[in-house]
Amino acid sequence: MRLTPNRVVNGLILAGVLAVSGAVVASVEAAPEAKQRSPESLRTAASFQSITDPATRSVALFTEAGKVIQNPRCLNCHPVERAPTQGDDLHPHNPPMVAGDSGHGPAGLPCFSCHTGANVPTWGDNIKSIPGDPKWALAPAEMAWQGKSLGQICAQLKNPATNGGKTLEQIHHHMAEDHLVGWGWNPGAGRAPVPGTQAQFGELIRAWIDTGARCPQA
Ligand code: HEC
Ligand code: HEC
Repeated sequence: MRLTPNRVVNGLILAGVLAVSGAVVASVEAAPEAKQRSPESLRTAASFQSITDPATRSVALFTEAGKVIQNPRCLNCHPVERAPTQGDDLHPHNPPMVAGDSGHGPAGLPCFSCHTGANVPTWGDNIKSIPGDPKWALAPAEMAWQGKSLGQICAQLKNPATNGGKTLEQIHHHMAEDHLVGWGWNPGAGRAPVPGTQAQFGELIRAWIDTGARCPQA
């Protein structure tokens, strides 16, 4: 059997995954729950009705949606440096990885050589996994969120020059329906999901737009 580049890569990954698993066994046995953040809840859009001033309500709705937007599951793919990060502490991607011109990785080592269309458990009883989605890629530089305030992210999201040329309706559709965004609620073994449900998140964004899409102070 010929060694294709893919086979070499898969061999390397397997070696890496096995090494990582070894380290994880020890820590997981010591403190099973320490690997995941405690799940935060997400308030419903309806629960903001008591705020009568629309502008104030709009800011409050976006601030609630920020619990998802600024969650590590989203931030890891929306970095400022052109490299993905991992985990709840946003540590550098291991193995070292860069976005490449396309966001799909450097020539010869695309994201898809390791990340497939779905999450793949890597070890034993569903303790760890390689995350996956058909659209897996690094978000473009102008959509960088790490290290920014929620107000700055909000302004970026509204600006067609920094949101991929989207209208607010398209932003809503992306947040509420996009499969890759939805991965945040289904992040695979070993990762805590973002709070609430994608439908609830979509309703917060809907209500935020309907109240004037106001941003928190930058
Ligand atoms: C050589 C294999 C390999 C390549 C290539 C690769 N990754 Fe990964 N990536 C992994 C593995 C393995 C994990 C899981 C690590 C873990 O959870 O401990 C991972 C995890 C991640 C995570 C962490 C998710 C989270 O919330 O913790 C992100 C984000 C990510 N990769 C993005 C990318 C992007 C974007 C690319 C392409 C530009 C890419 N990766 C290319 C192997 C790879
Ligand atoms: C695997 C990497 C990855 C993850 C994880 C990820 N994104 Fe993205 N995101 C992208 C890419 C790539 C684009 C640009 C392509 C597109 O629009 O589909 C993008 C674009 C976006 C946009 C478009 C507009 C803009 O200004 O940024 C929004 C909104 C967004 N993501 C929200 C989220 C949310 C919310 C989460 C977490 C629940 C999330 N993303 C998780 C890669 C990711």
